[in-house]
Amino acid sequence: MTQVVQYSRRGAVGVILVENPPVNALSQAVRQGLLDALRQGLEDDGARALVLAGGGRTFIAGADIAEFGRPLAAPDLNDVIAAFEDAAKPVVAAIHGTALGGGLEVALGCHYRVAVAKAMVGLPEVKLGILPGAGGTQRLPRLVGAHVALTMITSGEFVPAPKAHELGILDAIVEGDPVDGAVRFAEALDPAGPHPRVRDRAERIAADRGSAVFDEKRRALEKTARGLFAPQRCVDAVQAAAELPFEEGLKRERELFGQCMAHPQSKALIHVFFAERAIGKIPDVPADTPARPVATAAVLGAGTMGGGIAMNFANAGIPVTLLETSQEALDRGLATIARNYAGTVAKGRLTQAEMERRLSLITPTLDMAALAEADMVVEAVFEDMAVKQDVFRRLDAVAKPGAVLATNTSTLDIDAIAAVTSRPADVIGMHFFSPANVMKLLEVVRGSATAKDVIATAMQTGRKIGKVSVLVGNCDGFVGNRMLMPYSRQAELLVEEGAWPEQVDKALQDWGMAMGPFAMGDLAGVDVTWRIRQRRLAEGKAAGSPLTDRLYLMERYGQKTGAGWYRYEAGSRTPLPDDAVKRMIENHRETHQIRPRAISDEEIVKRMIYALVNEGAKALEEGMALRASDIDVIYLYGYGFPAWRGGPMHYADSVGLPAVLADIRAFQQHSGAEWTPAPLLERLAAEGGSFAAHDRRR
Ligand code: CAA
Ligand code: NAI
Repeated sequence: MTQVVQYSRRGAVGVILVENPPVNALSQAVRQGLLDALRQGLEDDGARALVLAGGGRTFIAGADIAEFGRPLAAPDLNDVIAAFEDAAKPVVAAIHGTALGGGLEVALGCHYRVAVAKAMVGLPEVKLGILPGAGGTQRLPRLVGAHVALTMITSGEFVPAPKAHELGILDAIVEGDPVDGAVRFAEALDPAGPHPRVRDRAERIAADRGSAVFDEKRRALEKTARGLFAPQRCVDAVQAAAELPFEEGLKRERELFGQCMAHPQSKALIHVFFAERAIGKIPDVPADTPARPVATAAVLGAGTMGGGIAMNFANAGIPVTLLETSQEALDRGLATIARNYAGTVAKGRLTQAEMERRLSLITPTLDMAALAEADMVVEAVFEDMAVKQDVFRRLDAVAKPGAVLATNTSTLDIDAIAAVTSRPADVIGMHFFSPANVMKLLEVVRGSATAKDVIATAMQTGRKIGKVSVLVGNCDGFVGNRMLMPYSRQAELLVEEGAWPEQVDKALQDWGMAMGPFAMGDLAGVDVTWRIRQRRLAEGKAAGSPLTDRLYLMERYGQKTGAGWYRYEAGSRTPLPDDAVKRMIENHRETHQIRPRAISDEEIVKRMIYALVNEGAKALEEGMALRASDIDVIYLYGYGFPAWRGGPMHYADSVGLPAVLADIRAFQQHSGAEWTPAPLLERLAAEGGSFAAHDRRR
């Protein structure tokens, strides 16, 4: 027998144990091992019943995602499940940790399912752009009905064991060790059979035949899962369970599974799954690098960002001191924090008591000396080098030895900030995104002197406070905003050349972006963009278009003034096209003798997205990002890039790098230096490579 699945006996019950760390994924060896162990259990005369369990931290977390994309080696998971379901002895699944995807499908093939109360079950395949392909869409609705099955399968959400018990997915909740509990459960069973098979349960699903629930779900998903292929196929599969005999339903599921697997969305979402797990892997800061303990924190500045950052610490139970320069600013910051929490309470997502507990963890102060005990300090004062250096000099004088000193700067040089302290090794960038209590992305910016354990601490603390931490290098705009500069520049150029802001935004939204660049500009503030432009102009760098200057002079600062690239009605965040902006653009075109031309949505999308790709490739080659897949994660979590396109770098791979490069060269002929292709892109395109292959080589 293969080692990954072991058979042993406890009294009169045979125990089949899967041991395939870290999550007992159903690799080929596990599938074969399950069949072998089952045969052994059935042949063991001393065993009157069998228990199937997972060793280590979990039951079975599903198919082995790393095997996807290759031809699947025998045995097929469907055959393994059928063998368990048809077994002549009763089989009890003993669930702890998670039973997910193929793991839950195996459990549904067992005659009984018991779990510890902390376990979770679910069919999360839809998050990978596929659907449960081993009978999950046929068996689950037979247990719980179409409505619940549709919710679980189209959302992919995990269901806690007590709820799963209530729904009828589990037969019992057991106390203590799951295998002991399952053995006790099995001992009480009648070995004679017949043993209940989920496939034979017709009564629940019969009631759903011809039901409106399927069309209702399809319509709902058109809104909530816009542009996604798999969720609609999940509905088709569950409907087949209601309308076809079991074997035919399985066949239909297989077909739909194949369609999803062949679709580019599943490749993108599987890429994202591994990309999210790769971000923590830093070659010279291995996972076992000891992080410094962060039991208390402090935040400097209670403005737009500081307040949100303080909330992140309080939400994670870390006491945080909040420093301001005046009582007025402090009161304003605290009032915003209280209002944000109250909003969450009003929506029923937080209890009053929990809100009060979190607020009590935030200690306001006007005295820098109150920061002396903090293990981590995050500075979020004005974006001005002189102000930041002054703050860091004073912080250096009071912070305790070993405290991590972080700056939330979005554009300034970390090394220049670190240099004014006596401890540059303790200084790091922690670049949060606005609103800081909501946005998941955290760019951790490594300075040239930053110590490895400080990097480990920032990455780990980021995760602890609910962020997706990605390590980046110290350059203008770091990675995300650096790429956004040529992207925004293209948006403005497109408008100068003949498109309207609303056309550009719509083309990108239709393509999948959460928001177009002009609506985003209004959200971030035209004044903020203008200030960055002025600084870059002063430094002799590429700095966007004079359209921003005109808008700024019109005092159209975006949503905050009710008008920017769009106009906004009182109390509304809906961007409305504005004739005043059109006139301003027309005037600009006339002044610069630009004859407007019709621009296609295809050109808009290509120029915008390839601007990201080209700059991303430059940042990657300079080592500002560790992996192309890290850049993808940054764009998914910080900029509303659609996950089903995998991120800008994966998207370029999916188009093919030679085709992307050919377009970039064509743009270069038209507009010159700003489209100089990234050397890495040229090299990879010439050698038939991809960003993914480049990542694997590193
Ligand atoms: N296949 C292969 N590897 C997997 C895996 C899977 N199904 N699930 C997790 N892993 C790997 C991760 O890549 C990671 O590897 P590294 O340590 O090398 O990065 C490791 O297991 C640990 O994973 P996490 O860091 O995510 O650990 P966690 O404790 O935070 O979460 C989990 C554990 C809840 C199981 C989470 O990993 C998860 O959600 N996994 C995916 C579950 C899933 O989608 N299953 C359905 C698969 S598709 C299917 O089953 C199709 C079918 O019907 C035939
Ligand atoms: P803000 O102007 O809203 O808040 C800054 C706050 O710092 C003010 O309340 C001010 O009173 C306070 N402050 C100034 N000097 C201080 C000092 N010496 N000690 C204590 N407090 C002091 O600015 P915002 O938007 O919160 O930006 C803060 C930092 O975060 C900047 O570096 C900015 O670049 C960065 N950032 C901003 C983002 C945004 O979208 N607003 C996004 C990411 C980073």
